[in-house]
Amino acid sequence: MTGEAPPGLPEATEPPVAALADPLTRILSLTDFAGLAERTMDRPSFDYIAGGSGEEITLRENVEALRRRRLRSRILVDVTSVDPSTHILGAPLRMPVGIAPMAFGHLAHPSAEPAMARAAGQAGVAFCLSTMSSTPLEEVAGAAPDGAPRWFQLYVHRDRAVSHDLVSRAEAAGYSAIVLTADLPVAGDRERDLRNGLQYPERFGNFTAAEGVAGRPLLEVIGGFNERGLTWRDVAWLRGLTSLPIVIKGVMSGADASRAVRAGAAGVWVSNHGGRQLDRAPASIDVLDEVVRAVGQRTVDGQPVEIYLDGGVRRGADVATALAMGAQAVFVGRPLGLALAVGGEAGVRRGLELLRGELLTTMALMGVTSVDRFRRWMVEP
Ligand code: FNR
Ligand code: LAC
Repeated sequence: MTGEAPPGLPEATEPPVAALADPLTRILSLTDFAGLAERTMDRPSFDYIAGGSGEEITLRENVEALRRRRLRSRILVDVTSVDPSTHILGAPLRMPVGIAPMAFGHLAHPSAEPAMARAAGQAGVAFCLSTMSSTPLEEVAGAAPDGAPRWFQLYVHRDRAVSHDLVSRAEAAGYSAIVLTADLPVAGDRERDLRNGLQYPERFGNFTAAEGVAGRPLLEVIGGFNERGLTWRDVAWLRGLTSLPIVIKGVMSGADASRAVRAGAAGVWVSNHGGRQLDRAPASIDVLDEVVRAVGQRTVDGQPVEIYLDGGVRRGADVATALAMGAQAVFVGRPLGLALAVGGEAGVRRGLELLRGELLTTMALMGVTSVDRFRRWMVEP
């Protein structure tokens, strides 16, 4: 509507037609995807991605705890050039970000995990594929450009032979790390999924051991897959299966971070599974200091042990917060799952571009020109 402007004011202009035609152009931050996704996705699929366990206290707390932190800056620093690039486990990243493993990509979009992997490769961020991906791991590896770090997330099956086979296939397909998820001995109580009667409609992408899952409740399928008896001893078993570095995901205390390093983990991934497992777990950002202290300068196979964090990362300021507190990189889950749902590969690319833009602005305003210049004092408290 081009209304008549009051005298002295410029006429209101309409947004360009293209902007109206492409809903992605109206997405201005990662947090915008949820609203669009909720309007366009079927309810069970949206709830599976967006929801958490129990009362969703931890789900909310992850986001809120990051937002409560305050950033301090250095002034009069030449920020003509700001470089957010870094490396994880020796591989270069264009920014300290990765896509967290998310099961059942087909619930978001038919292009599923290959689209995620391509978007990650183009943006120069890491991509971690779930054991429970909809697409076979070899096909995902083929879709992603070489060079972008591609990790494989492992759920250990009760029949260890299934997991042995998965690890060997991931190594053969060029995945460069195995991420052992340790916070799902049983599935959390996801009330949205129970209410929606969410069922697993198809086969898994990666194995046939779970044939016959069609029509069974999704949470039963997830919980039924996993070895409940998994312990620290199994990390040694896993190390014996592969020469790839092992990252342990789901660490939520300094004591477990220390234990992970002693068990030979090259990386410690601070996570409460995005509030999908133990409801009332603290926000992941609120245990980061403790984990950083516990890991200290320790090394595994001659390399410093790296710390990653996920849970509630939505803004460039969140990335800056985690980095200043000692994380090497952060991983993002839901917003990119929902970006895939609303825009396929282009949606994920848009999400990563926006996050990069925010990170660059935040770094410039903090007077931080490269990731090694973040300091702990820059985050309060
Ligand atoms: C997950 N997550 C997850 N983690 C994992 O190790 N293996 C998996 O298969 C899955 N599957 C999965 C599906 C969906 C739909 C979501 C949203 C999450 C947890 C994920 O890797 C990560 O820890 C959180 O999503 C991070 O929190 P945010 O960014 O979603 O707040
Ligand atoms: C989830 C599992 C599969 O969070 O990790 O849904």
